[in-house]
Amino acid sequence: MKLEKEPEAPLQFLLAAESDFEEVVAMSEGIYGGLDYLPSRYHAWLREPQRTVVLAKRAGAVIGLQSVVIIDGGETALVEGLRVAPWERGKGVAGELQRFCAGLIKQQHPGVKVSRLTRDDPLGPKDFRKYRIVAKQVPTMPLNGVLW
Ligand SMILES: CC(C)(COP(=O)(O)OP(=O)(O)OC[C@H]1O[C@@H](n2cnc3c(N)ncnc32)[C@H](O)[C@@H]1OP(=O)(O)O)[C@@H](O)C(=O)NCCC(=O)NCCS
Repeated sequence: MKLEKEPEAPLQFLLAAESDFEEVVAMSEGIYGGLDYLPSRYHAWLREPQRTVVLAKRAGAVIGLQSVVIIDGGETALVEGLRVAPWERGKGVAGELQRFCAGLIKQQHPGVKVSRLTRDDPLGPKDFRKYRIVAKQVPTMPLNGVLW
């Protein structure tokens, strides 16, 4: 008997709400070795006027989050908090979430010229086509760069 894989429910992107907090914390378990900063900032982030917090949901459940705050007088979008639930990783969810947020920010803040984020994972050729390094922290880490 051939077992057919159930088709996955489509991704939905929504603005985060206070009521999503428990699910956000649950899907963030283990991030940054238990030192995740997001639980202590989540509610404050939702109240920041220049910040947008977007959730990815599948079948109504939170499976991803990214936040973007507008700085530098409206010219820079600072991307923070990106995460995808462990069981949804490796399927391109982060990329879809990033593209959704970029489109939203373009609409809401047409003055934005650059998008900036910090990464501490090793970068490959694809990443260098997408970003350019503007600062790099070398001494103790393999790579901890700020990207435009
Ligand atoms: C990093 C993480 C969000 C990647 O999620 P994922 O859905 O498995 O991502 P994928 O491997 O499918 O990669 C898809 C896209 O995300 C991008 N991406 C992967 N890791 C990234 C990172 N750390 N920062 C920014 N973008 C990242 C890739 O460049 C790719 O983009 P593309 O579609 O434009 O090519 C996920 O592993 C995670 O939640 N890790 C724990 C939290 C964390 O380390 N967050 C990053 C903070 S810098």
